[in-house]
Amino acid sequence: MGRQTEPSAHNDPRKYGNIHDTVFFYTGSKKGYTWNPQYTPYTREYIDSEWTELPNGRFFKGENMLDPRGSMASFDFMGTTARWRTNHDGMMELWNAPQTNVPNSHGRVLLRRDGKPRKRCRIVFLDELPGVSLQSWWGDITPLAGGSDERLGYPTQKPLALLERIINASSNPNDIILDAFCGCGTALVAAQNLSRQWIGIDISPTACRVMAKRLKDACNMRESEAGHRKHDTSSFIVRDLPWTIDKLRKIPHFEFENWAVIALGGIPNAVQVGDMGIDGRIFPVGTKPADQHSMFAGDWFPVQVKQQDKVGRPDIDAFEAVMERENRQRGFFVAFGFSSDAEGECAAFHKRSGRLIKLITVQEILDEQHVQKM
Ligand SMILES: C[S@@+](CC[C@H](N)C(=O)[O-])C[C@H]1O[C@@H](n2cnc3c(N)ncnc32)[C@H](O)[C@@H]1O
Repeated sequence: MGRQTEPSAHNDPRKYGNIHDTVFFYTGSKKGYTWNPQYTPYTREYIDSEWTELPNGRFFKGENMLDPRGSMASFDFMGTTARWRTNHDGMMELWNAPQTNVPNSHGRVLLRRDGKPRKRCRIVFLDELPGVSLQSWWGDITPLAGGSDERLGYPTQKPLALLERIINASSNPNDIILDAFCGCGTALVAAQNLSRQWIGIDISPTACRVMAKRLKDACNMRESEAGHRKHDTSSFIVRDLPWTIDKLRKIPHFEFENWAVIALGGIPNAVQVGDMGIDGRIFPVGTKPADQHSMFAGDWFPVQVKQQDKVGRPDIDAFEAVMERENRQRGFFVAFGFSSDAEGECAAFHKRSGRLIKLITVQEILDEQHVQKM
């Protein structure tokens, strides 16, 4: 039975409470796209008001044979193409089907005593209809509540039913579904449940770990390179999961610099030598892209990266000189670890100059803890 849930209320100060999400629908071409109509169940109120229940629990009603467009003017009826016309007293009558073929009221046509069909003569059973064709307002899928079994704790997780509906409408079994921002993998689970192939991408290693666990728990899948090569549909691989501390220690220094600067959301230096003590720059959100590439861009923060276990005071001293030369209020220093001297020096520098050096460890980046320091 259909259930339109009560919409929740949202108190947005000084504007209408925002209680909906918008799903954008795009197609590659006007014609060549998959479209499988979706339906929602009828509401209890509608069934009670329009349908009659039979002793066997089925609901039926009588409908006109002729609809206003005449599409029911002829139809296949017990092996005969039957036609209907309106007789002098406004009743529909069957005029080219042999009388012997006209069923009694236990069949699909309700007849009058005289054997002619009644006006609303065609019997329709509720359980043979697909439901209400889905409209652009979806009130039957609720946001994930805090206590929901489906909830994994991923902040932007979407309901599985939502993704299943979208995938059902726009693809067929064995098609490939791509979710390039797949978070905790709701679209992947939906695609797997619906026998589609899928590819998921997410920039966050945490998301990748959460989605891999979810595919194992919810879909009983295995993480296996071998199974994947054999097109085993119950296995998947997590590819290019970025870095481990071990791997980061071994990669070439310039690659390590790039990795660290990009992980902080910055832009690495194009030139590896003569960087004047700056390995990359972070531009605050809102800086115009054109400005970002200008050496003279007003607002940016320098990043210094060392592929070392314990960065000490001399390196911090050198970075302080860079901050003063460039007149920067804030800068970031990335390494595997820092000595207590280094930390003390940053505090002293802040006291003397008001400038702030944030020390960020590789482990903090891998654990996504660095964001709080930014
Ligand atoms: C709104 S969430 C998706 C939630 C998902 N529908 C679910 O149910 O879990 C968006 C995701 O996009 C990821 N993301 C952001 N920027 C990205 C990028 N440039 N490339 C890939 N993923 C990115 C984020 O890490 C986040 O997990």
